[in-house]
Amino acid sequence: MHTQVGIIGAGPAGLLLGQMLHVKGIDSVILESRNQDYVIDRVRAGVLEQSTADFMDAMGVGDRLHREGMRHEDVYVSFGGRRHLIPLAELTGGKAIYVYGQNEVVKDLMNARLATGRPLHYEVSDVSVHDINTDQPRIRYRHNGSDQELICDFIAGCDGFHGICRPALASALGDAAKFYDRTYPCGWLGILADAPPSSDALVYTYHERGFALYSMRSQKITRLYFQVPPDEDIRDWSDEAIWEEMLARMTTVDGWKPNVGPILNKNVTAMRSFVAEPMNAGRLFLAGDAAHIVPPTGAKGLNLAAADVLLLGRAFAQFYRESKTDLLARYSCEALKRVWKAQRFSWWMTQTLHKFPGENPFDYQRQLADLDYIVGSKAAMTSLAENYVGLPIDVAF
Ligand code: FAD
Ligand code: DHB
Repeated sequence: MHTQVGIIGAGPAGLLLGQMLHVKGIDSVILESRNQDYVIDRVRAGVLEQSTADFMDAMGVGDRLHREGMRHEDVYVSFGGRRHLIPLAELTGGKAIYVYGQNEVVKDLMNARLATGRPLHYEVSDVSVHDINTDQPRIRYRHNGSDQELICDFIAGCDGFHGICRPALASALGDAAKFYDRTYPCGWLGILADAPPSSDALVYTYHERGFALYSMRSQKITRLYFQVPPDEDIRDWSDEAIWEEMLARMTTVDGWKPNVGPILNKNVTAMRSFVAEPMNAGRLFLAGDAAHIVPPTGAKGLNLAAADVLLLGRAFAQFYRESKTDLLARYSCEALKRVWKAQRFSWWMTQTLHKFPGENPFDYQRQLADLDYIVGSKAAMTSLAENYVGLPIDVAF
C-alpha cells in the first residue's frame, strides 16, 4: 500500500490534517489505535480560538460549530470575591472564542472524513515507523488480525503525548533533539454537570482555597474544574463534596454562583508543560500534543494542534504543487515560535491563578496584585485578551 501522507492518530490534529490534505487534493491514510467511540467520548477541550474556528470554516467543517457552538466575546477573571469582565472582542478588534467541545470537533471531522471516502482505520495496533531518513518512509501496523505496511512520501505524527512518533524522532535525532519539560504540583478535577449555565462567559477564579474554572458545553450543560493535588483519586470525591468545593471557591460577594445539578462525568487531569525541538526528523513531522503539551489554564492545546496542522498542511501542499521543500524545512521553526508563546501564556495563567505548595503569603499577595493590575490596566488587559483569543497566524488558509 502507498499513500502520500501517512497520518498516525485520529485526534483533532490527525483528523484536521487529513481534512486539509483532502481539500488540497493530497492522499492520506489515518491510523488510530482506539475505537471511534473512545476518541469521541474523551472529555477534553472546550475553547476554540478565533483562528481555529476560521480554519475549520475554511476546511468546510465549521457549520455545526456556528449553529451549536457558543461565541463568547468576554471572559471573567474572579478574585477577592469579585468577577471582573475582560471584553475580549472589544480589546482585539472583534476576535472572540468559541465554546464547542472537542468531542463535537472530532465528530464533525470524522463525518467529513467519511464523506471523502478516504481511509481512516480504527483499532490498529503495533504501530511503528521506519526509514524516516529516506524518501519512502514506512509505517508498519496490525489491523483486523493481519500485519500491514504503508509506504508513504511523508509521515505525520499526530499521536498525542503518549504516542510512538516522538520516541521515534528522539531515537533518530539522538543528541540533536531537545526536550523541555515542567510538571506542576497540581491537577484539575473536572466535572460535566446537568445544570444550565448561570453565566454567559467563562469565569477563571483565584481563591484562597485555589484555582477554579467555570465553563460550559451547551445551554443545558456546565463544565467546571478546580485545582487539586496531582495524584488526587477521584474516588475520594463524592458528588456532594465536589459541589461544596466548587461553590466555596466560585461564589462571589454579589451572590453569583454556578447552578448545581447531577454530575454526568468526573475525572482528574495532571498538568504539564513540554516541548520537543525540532518537530521533525527526516520525513517524520510531529503535530499537536505529540510535540508539545501545555497546562490547560490557557485553553491552548487543541488550538496549538490546529496551528501546527495549518503550517504543515501548507508545507505539504507547496511540496506537491510546486515541488519545493522550503516550507517543510521551516515547519518546525515556524511552529515552535507560536508554541513557545502559547507555553509562556499557559505557564503565566497557571502560576497566576493557582496555589502551589511551599508558597507563602508574599506569593498570594503578589498573585492578587498581578490580577488587580490586569483588570485595572487597559494595556495589561489587552495583552491577556490577545493571547487568550489567539495570537495571529500569518498564513492564508
Ligand atoms: P490527541 O487528542 O491526544 O490525539 C492523539 C490520538 O492518537 C489519540 O486518538 C490516540 O488514541 C492516538 N494514538 C496514540 N498512540 C497511537 C498509536 N501508536 N497509533 C495510532 N494512534 C495512536 N485545548 C484547548 O485548545 N482548549 C481547551 O479548552 C482545552 N481544555 C482541555 C481540558 C482538559 C481537561 C484536557 C485534558 C485538555 C485540554 N486541552 C484544551 C488540550 C487538548 O485536549 C489537546 O491538546 C488535544 O487533544 C490535542 O490533540 P492531538 O490530536 O494533538 O492529540
Ligand atoms: C475549558 C477548558 C480549559 O482548559 C479552559 O482553559 C477553559 C475551558 C473547558 O473545558 O470548557
